[in-house]
This record gives sequence, C-alpha cells and structure tokens, in this order.
Amino acid sequence: MRVAVIIGSTREGRVGEKVGEWFLRLAGDRDDVEPRAVDLVDFDFPARYPDHTTAHIRDFVHEVDRADAFVVVTPEYNRSFPASLKQAIDYAYDEWHTKPVAFVSYGHGSRGLYAVEHLRSVFTELHTVTLRNGVAVNLLDDVLDERAGAASLMLDQLHWWGTALRDARARRPYAS
Ligand SMILES: Cc1cc2nc3c(=O)[nH]c(=O)nc-3n(C[C@H](O)[C@H](O)[C@H](O)COP(=O)(O)O)c2cc1C
Repeated sequence: MRVAVIIGSTREGRVGEKVGEWFLRLAGDRDDVEPRAVDLVDFDFPARYPDHTTAHIRDFVHEVDRADAFVVVTPEYNRSFPASLKQAIDYAYDEWHTKPVAFVSYGHGSRGLYAVEHLRSVFTELHTVTLRNGVAVNLLDDVLDERAGAASLMLDQLHWWGTALRDARARRPYAS
C-alpha cells in the first residue's frame, strides 16, 4: 500500500524534517506499506494561487493521486497547522477522495493536537477518512522513539483503511 508521508513544515530550521525522517524510518521497516516522502520544501509553489497550474503543482497533485493513504506530519503554529500545508492541500481535490489520512503532530504542550483538529475539518471537505489514532509529540518533553508503539498501531490502522478503501474503489465508483 502506497503511503505518502507529507512533511508540512517548510520553515527554515524546522524540526519537521527530523520528525518526518524518524517516521519514514519506522514505516520503511514494515513490509505492508510502501512509504514515500512528500516534503513540501521540495515544491516551489507560486506565491498566489495561480489561474493556470504549474509543473510543481502538477508534481504535488500526482503524488496525492498515486498514493493509497497519507500520513501528514504537522507542527502546530498558533493553535493550527502551517500555511505551507494548507497551500499544498488546496491544490488537489479529487485525488484525495476516499483515501485515509493519519497524523503525526508535534508542538509544545498541546503536542500539535489543535493543528490536527483543524486538519480533520479540512480533510472532511476532501472526502477523506481521518484516523482517530495518531502520533503526537511534545517537543519539550518527549523522546521520539517512545512514540514508536503509537506509530506502529497507527500504521496498522492506516493499512486496514487503505486496503479496504482501495478495494471498495475498485468495486464501485464513489458517489460524489
Ligand atoms: C509561528 C509559530 C507559532 C507556534 N505556535 C505554537 C502553538 O500554538 N502551540 C504549540 O504547541 N507550539 C507552537 N509553536 C512551536 C512549534 O510547534 C515548534 O517551534 C515546532 O518546532 C515548529 O515546527 P517546525 O520546526 O517543523 O516548523 C509555534 C511555532 C511557530 C514558529
């Protein structure tokens, strides 16, 4: 099952790269998922939502299209998720439909959970299924490896949803 691991922070000096690499290593050790890094820092998106698509937008949309499931690695900025993530999410539409989305969040005391709640609302609009279970990291206190058990359960559940929905898509078209 193809899992796109979307690294949402593009901030200079970001922690997101380390969190994303940690998660990709764990996912890469499994034989039931095929994780692929989709790091938003690699896409040169336009400053304004363009009238016509660009090569980098097409590349991002293609990554969404080819995936069976998603893990969004998100920090929390002022009780929400970063603008870089919203910009990217909004470039795709149909390509998100009927696929599961799981979250690896991080921040200070709230462990990125306010960001996740906002993302759930966005991803509902995009006809996805968001997972109840996730990985939430307090950067001030937590050791990443202590979250390995949570990551493993989340991937088990993502695999369940990802294969169930992929089979359902193959059987009959989604009503939208
Ligand atoms: C603009 C900004 C706002 C932030 N707001 C919050 C917040 O509301 N809650 C929180 O727990 N951490 C907050 N933080 C701390 C970030 O979660 C922390 O700096 C994290 O490393 C940011 O992710 P990044 O380094 O991958 O960009 C904020 C950080 C920034 C830069």
